[in-house]
Amino acid sequence: MDEAGPRPAHEAPLEELLERTRGLRRELLQRGEFLPPSWSEEASRDLRSEELAGFWLGREATTPGLVVFSRRDSHVFAHIHMEPSGDAAQGALRLAETLLHALPREVRRADVGLSGLEGPQETRFADQAVQRFGGDILVRYSLERALDQNLPARTLPPPSQGSLVPIRSVPLERLAELDWESFRGSPDERLAAETLAEERRSLTELVEGRLGRILEDCSGAIVLSDGRPTAMILVAEQAPGRSIVLDLVVDPTWRRRGIASYLLQGAIDKLTAGGGEAVRLWVTDTNFPARALYERLGFHTVHSARIYRWTAPLR
Ligand SMILES: CC(C)(COP(=O)(O)OP(=O)(O)OC[C@H]1O[C@@H](n2cnc3c(N)ncnc32)[C@H](O)[C@@H]1OP(=O)(O)O)[C@@H](O)C(=O)NCCC(=O)NCCS
Repeated sequence: MDEAGPRPAHEAPLEELLERTRGLRRELLQRGEFLPPSWSEEASRDLRSEELAGFWLGREATTPGLVVFSRRDSHVFAHIHMEPSGDAAQGALRLAETLLHALPREVRRADVGLSGLEGPQETRFADQAVQRFGGDILVRYSLERALDQNLPARTLPPPSQGSLVPIRSVPLERLAELDWESFRGSPDERLAAETLAEERRSLTELVEGRLGRILEDCSGAIVLSDGRPTAMILVAEQAPGRSIVLDLVVDPTWRRRGIASYLLQGAIDKLTAGGGEAVRLWVTDTNFPARALYERLGFHTVHSARIYRWTAPLR
């Protein structure tokens, strides 16, 4: 590594880490992602203490930037953020290369998000990254729907079987199984958990509020008389008046009966009645069933983001 090459983030001055992590958070919030207000301070401190791993390109580099990453079993989740500069794509490639080299052999997959690059720069990064390191690109859209208090609620008919119950009245294990079964074989399978245990863990984190405070009255599950859930929706508040649908699934055998529409429209009506301004969600570009559903219920695309995925053997 040359002088201006990426260096371990724990060696970086706190000021620079704060600058980068604030830039990163700002951009992710604009895209509709969620990071709590204290995130930048906490992440910078954790990078300095090596609680959180990362590499950094300092101010002396022509392309200041940062990559942060964490490992969960054999998967690594990373994010590269670049400060605006003419050569930001080159800097991002150097950070990606450093990251991939630093990962131990047991890591089977690395999912890397990217921020701070202008459109053509990101295209350049994408082309060169795939050429140099292989991998795949997954595209996700952030969709938004404005909530208009002047429009009447549009309550849709409930499902003919099963009833809507509070999300916390269903054992988390059952909800994780529903999620797991629902995403298997779906267009979003590649972004879903790879094992039921992983599914349980990420659902637990969502329910505990990692991506925003759960709005109990807008979330819920449809359960049959034997207690088995066939569908669920999970909605969280990310800022006053602004919420996000974190999860919406219907068991494969119960699809095309209007259940997802019923759950989502119900949440929209309650958010509107509560004075909400807008609701958001994320969907992958290839999830045509979900995109058709969201379009019908008034959502439109506000941002897109790519996830760069490298699978073992990582180069
Ligand atoms: C997406 C999903 C939640 C839809 O659930 P659903 O209960 O079948 O949806 P609905 O019956 O309310 O469908 C409403 C409308 O959405 C569209 N739609 C739903 N599924 C569709 C499909 N497979 N193909 C095309 N359009 C579809 C249609 O316009 C449909 O209206 P119609 O049936 O009158 O034509 C369900 O397919 C699912 O759980 N998928 C896997 C998990 C997932 O991808 N969740 C979304 C993550 S962002």
